[in-house]
Amino acid sequence: MEFDLVVRGGTVVTGTDTVRADVGIRDGKIMAVAASLSAPETLDADGLLVLPGGVDTHCHIEQLRADGTADEETWESGSASCLAGGTTSVVTFSTQFKGAGILAPLAEYRRRAARSMVDYSFHQIITDATDEVIWNEIPQIVAEGIRSLKVFLTYDPLHLDDRAYLRVLAAARRNGAFVTVHCENYEAIGWRTEALLAAGHTAAKYHSWSRPSIVEREATHRAIALAELVDQPIQVFHVSCEEVAEEVARAQARGLKVWAETCTQYFVLTAEDQDRPGFEGAKFMCSPSPRGADEHARMWDMVRRGTIDVVSSDHSGWCYDGPRGKRMNGDTANFRDTPNGVPGLSARLPVLFSEGVAKGRIDLNHFVRLTATNPAKLFGLAGKGSIAVGFDADLVLWDPTKRVTITNATMQQAIDYTPYEGMVVTGWPVATVLRGRVAMRDGRVQAEPGSGKFLPRAPYDMIRPRGVLPNGFDTSQFA
Ligand code: URP
Ligand code: ZN
Ligand code: ZN
Repeated sequence: MEFDLVVRGGTVVTGTDTVRADVGIRDGKIMAVAASLSAPETLDADGLLVLPGGVDTHCHIEQLRADGTADEETWESGSASCLAGGTTSVVTFSTQFKGAGILAPLAEYRRRAARSMVDYSFHQIITDATDEVIWNEIPQIVAEGIRSLKVFLTYDPLHLDDRAYLRVLAAARRNGAFVTVHCENYEAIGWRTEALLAAGHTAAKYHSWSRPSIVEREATHRAIALAELVDQPIQVFHVSCEEVAEEVARAQARGLKVWAETCTQYFVLTAEDQDRPGFEGAKFMCSPSPRGADEHARMWDMVRRGTIDVVSSDHSGWCYDGPRGKRMNGDTANFRDTPNGVPGLSARLPVLFSEGVAKGRIDLNHFVRLTATNPAKLFGLAGKGSIAVGFDADLVLWDPTKRVTITNATMQQAIDYTPYEGMVVTGWPVATVLRGRVAMRDGRVQAEPGSGKFLPRAPYDMIRPRGVLPNGFDTSQFA
């Protein structure tokens, strides 16, 4: 067989197996995984691991803001950062603003994403569950291949009340879509925030005080219970701690189709980071908040138990400095007026490899499942997330021994800081291949804007409802 490119001499790692083999690629697809392949062009992987390209199913890129502007992380800069860090596919977001529909914003997101250098899809955020959106627009976007919705149970003005959340779950069930949920209790956070500000507790560190783990646990329990009522599979986004993961574990033990994602930051950042001098703590503010340092080991336990099976970045597009960054309201701004979120597109694989594989907490195959195979399967990204004949030739050549000190320059992003600054990691991507083309080599991104492609998602079995309904009555057919 003739190949366009052979990745030669590496150790191929999938979610289940590790084998010394060459990878033969033609027309952007993996055509062979075997010994001693040859082609006019080869990529030397001697001494390196050959992993499936990373799949980041929760990241915010060039997201539109209420003032009509967009995040500072553009598709060009964000996708370059992905490639620099070994990620080849993303699922990012199309937002709905209250009072508006979802079709026009989605068209705008797709127009902007045409500059991407990685493959991409979108979760559709629903903030206003009008009849028009629920009954008319959601079916249209699902037909376009947008097969997941995101809802927020907190944040002004994004959050949905329980009735609206139920309507979204029902719409997803009718249309064969998946639902992802930001689980924190809106009323409890608002109430505590008011009290903290009244007490003069305005600094960044009070962000974590405003939303302790209880509010995440309560909303997670409710999100799961309501999803069970509708018989709709969900993924709980950005689980921050064990007590929340235990809610998911209980649901899973009862056979519910509930999955849990966590993010890089919940293995290494802490609430104490928000107490850095000056305004620096704002660099570590995200929601849910990172917890105490003792939580990290418990999160690894939840990963090893299999309760948490996806690790995303939740990359956020807010800079620190500048008129549109976290600091835009000055260094005395209170935590409520400071934008949430941390960047991490490029840090995700190196930090997780270093903390997980290099420190012996998980094995290589588990690392691949968490960062590529499981997210691809759960979100219906066919042909992504593994190294197998017929799959897209999305690969990362990984040096498992290279030690790198993370600086913001190594992240190759538009965001002007990284919360992982100064962290020394073991393991680093040395080349990234997207559909058979070398897109990054030795830190130099060499892809063209527009080389990424939209990934329409067809129906898939994993998210099919169980068919277990209270009283056997399918509410979703009527409301
Ligand atoms: O703080 C965070 N996570 N910001 C990004 C938006 C979200 O909640 O996912
Ligand atoms: Zn969220
Ligand atoms: Zn997010």
